[in-house]
Parts: sequence; C-alpha cells; structure tokens
Amino acid sequence: MSTLIAPSILAADFANLQRDSEMLNSSEADWFHIDIMDGVFVPNISFGMPVLKAIAKHAKKPLDVHLMIVNPDQYITTFAELNSEILTVHYEACNHLHRTIQKIKSCNMKAGVALNPHTPINVLESIIQDIDLVCVMSVNPGFGGQSFIRETYLKVKELKAMIEKKGCPTLIEIDGGVTNKNAKQLIKSGADVLVAGSFIFGNDNPNKTISGLKNI
Ligand code: DX5
Ligand code: ZN
Repeated sequence: MSTLIAPSILAADFANLQRDSEMLNSSEADWFHIDIMDGVFVPNISFGMPVLKAIAKHAKKPLDVHLMIVNPDQYITTFAELNSEILTVHYEACNHLHRTIQKIKSCNMKAGVALNPHTPINVLESIIQDIDLVCVMSVNPGFGGQSFIRETYLKVKELKAMIEKKGCPTLIEIDGGVTNKNAKQLIKSGADVLVAGSFIFGNDNPNKTISGLKNI
C-alpha cells in the first residue's frame, strides 16, 4: 500500500475553506485531517461542528477527525452524523478506552487512538487489535508549525513490531512537523499515513507539495 497523505485543515486559509477543500479534492491527498481542540485538553481552541459541517459539504475524500478534547465520548454520535470516517481520540483523555473504541465502531466509523509524545507505545498492548489507526503525535498537540520530535522514529518502529506480532491491520499515522525531510525515514520505520499542515499549506504550490510527499 502506498503511503496515505492527510493534509491538516488547521493550516488552511479559514476564509477560503471551499477553495482549499477543492484544491485537496483535485490533489493526490487521500484524507482531510481535521483537528478539533477544546482549550482544555490542549492549550488552544481550533474550530467546532459548524466549521466541520462546512468543510464536509465540499470534501470529496474521507474525513479523518482528530479530537484533542476531554470527554470525547460525549460527541461520538455528533461526529458520526457529520460524516467522519475515522474518529481519533486521545489515549490520555479516555478513562475507559475500550468502551470508547467500541462506541466509535458502533457508529460505523473507524476508531483511532492518538498518543502524546510522552506516552509509551506499550500502553496499547492489550487493545491494539481493536484499533483501526494509531496516531503517533510527533509534536505536543495543540498547534501547527512545531518541530518534529525525533524520538518518534523509535516509537513508530516499536508500534509496527507490536502490530505485526499481533497480525492486525492497524494503520500507523504520524502527526506533527512532517516534511519532506522526515517523511522517508517515517515510512521506512513503519508509517502508513502522514499528516502535514504547515508544510503543505505554507507552500506556494500545495498541490505539488502533496504530490511530492505521496511519491517520496
Ligand atoms: C497538532 C495537530 C496537527 C497539526 C499538524 O496538534 O494535531 O494535525 O495541524 O500541523 P503541522 O504539520 O504544521 O505540524
Ligand atoms: Zn492532528
């Protein structure tokens, strides 16, 4: 399988969401990565349901929704109604992760679990077979445009080994500071999905940048 590219809308021009969504539709991007921040789990607020609804109206590719919020269970059905295909919750925000994952799946979405940079991979040992996607945070969540944390390579290798040992189809997604400088090594380490915000939208030619990442 070729690497999936999930541009992060957080770095798009919010005054031109239709234009940027159409650019992604016509690009080699695979998913729309949507960052929802509540100002509690992370020290920043991004956008909420009305904006997601506006993006969903124009997006012709799967919505990969990354919830950086406390008590995500409360909103699972809402995000299903907004056409999310993948719903990712943070390990650190869930007291009953197994129940949360089952609830996401019962709403016909794929279940993702994100790990903060300080959270070790082995916390997922007993539940990895139930998870469709693990999002390895390569920056501290809350902001775009931060520098990639190099420890991520080792975490990805460890996660890949765990997934192979269990023989499950779980995808590995990397989120934060992804550029053409680290993409190759991430893929070599086991990454299946690359999220990139500022590297794509901060570029004069986002379409070409997506293509560059896709074919790296
Ligand atoms: C960070 C978000 C990321 C962010 C990535 O909390 O989860 O998805 O938008 O942005 P860049 O690629 O600029 O680090
Ligand atoms: Zn994200």
